Amino acid sequence: MPQPIITGPTYAEMRDPSLLPASVRHAAHHADEMDPRNLWRINWHLADGQINHLCFPPALTGVACNIIVLLGRHFPSGSHKVGPAYVTLAEAEVLHGLRPGDKRVIGPSTGNFGIGTAYISHLKGYEAIVVMPDNMSRERYERIQRYGGALDLTPGTESDVILTLERTHSEYVSNPDYIVLAQFELLPNYRFHRHVTGGSALSVAAPYGNGQVAAFVSAPGSAGTLAAGDEIKAKFGDATVVALEPWECSTLYDGGQGQHRIEGIGDKMVTLIHNLLNTDFVMLIRDDETVRGVKLIEEGAAALAARGIADEATIAPLQGNFGMSGICNVIGAIKTAKLLGLGPDDNIVTVATDGFDRYPSVMDELVAREGAPDDERYAAWAESIFLGADLSGVLDTRSGAEKERLQSMKEALWTRFGYSEAYLDGMMTPDFWEAEYAKIPQIDEAIRALREPLS
Ligand SMILES: Cc1ncc(COP(=O)(O)O)c(C=O)c1O
Repeated sequence: MPQPIITGPTYAEMRDPSLLPASVRHAAHHADEMDPRNLWRINWHLADGQINHLCFPPALTGVACNIIVLLGRHFPSGSHKVGPAYVTLAEAEVLHGLRPGDKRVIGPSTGNFGIGTAYISHLKGYEAIVVMPDNMSRERYERIQRYGGALDLTPGTESDVILTLERTHSEYVSNPDYIVLAQFELLPNYRFHRHVTGGSALSVAAPYGNGQVAAFVSAPGSAGTLAAGDEIKAKFGDATVVALEPWECSTLYDGGQGQHRIEGIGDKMVTLIHNLLNTDFVMLIRDDETVRGVKLIEEGAAALAARGIADEATIAPLQGNFGMSGICNVIGAIKTAKLLGLGPDDNIVTVATDGFDRYPSVMDELVAREGAPDDERYAAWAESIFLGADLSGVLDTRSGAEKERLQSMKEALWTRFGYSEAYLDGMMTPDFWEAEYAKIPQIDEAIRALREPLS
């Protein structure tokens, strides 16, 4: 039996939550996790109105420019992936008449989008099924189940996500009992990150250096987050956008298809919603370095202080804020600073999608593999992983030939799932992306029209 819609914010309100009444914001930040009022805090801002971020300490980066990291762990459900889940479901409600109880919600994912799907579905009164690989960190399955989501597991790990895509299409896409939040192919994911993450990236950088954004760095899973780069380029035309991949699964770089340990990225595909026109460089990052980097941040502060690399007070604010993909992004930002020769006036923005809470089991596995690190090993990691990040594994993708190579990979995959050549070709023109982005005011109007006035 269809139920009334539980409404939430518009794109504009997620980009700038000060558009919401203070009472709505306050209630959202103080509600129990399972309370639908949490929908109103799907944005990058903390309760005090500040954008949640940190500057990665120069003692660890070794570069002069500011590396500003947007922190995703304080989004409801613990990662910013909840944003694309929310907007995809909200667009289905306001544009296509979906109502709670009509259909079950499907979230194809490697974890965080699935967690977000289960969480949003719970708040908005839908049943959810998350389609994901069966070998991800245990913390992910626990969260999905805590939010009442069911699991449909496909074999493998992060880099077997293509199997989840196949399962999603074969079982759910054309079955009218389901609504699929297809993060790899639906444009709400693009809209959310271009408008909300991109807008927040521009605002967060304004007080630093020259106030501009010289580069945006992000390791794509769905490539939603990378869309923030489009918004940054719309304001600063010379900005550079860098996509990162695991060295062990270098799909965009050279078609590599290996297994890797950086959960959430490196999904062995060119996703449909990836605007290839705006990706300037692809860089490779070693997966073990990201796992060790997380361990170093969480437990190596005393060792870094003892060796005179960084004092404990410098490392403390980083703790809890990084998983492997966040560390991957920081290493990529350091490489980007070196590649572009950036100085103290320049800003690079990147993201930490989630926090450490999802990865204690990954740290246990690291210790089981390599033994517990001592001070000497921690210091060596700081030198090699962060300070020693070099320019190996860097590919310039600005040429027409590179765009065509990546576009043919996109076409080879997505025509299999029923997308036409004409639609795919359209994605090679900026107009396609601008037209998708330009839908936001109309969607926002439809969201406002369906909800009670806010007070
Ligand atoms: C931990 C983590 N990092 C990075 C990403 C990649 O973000 P996007 O899908 O926006 O490219 C994801 C996506 O699920 C993730 O879970």
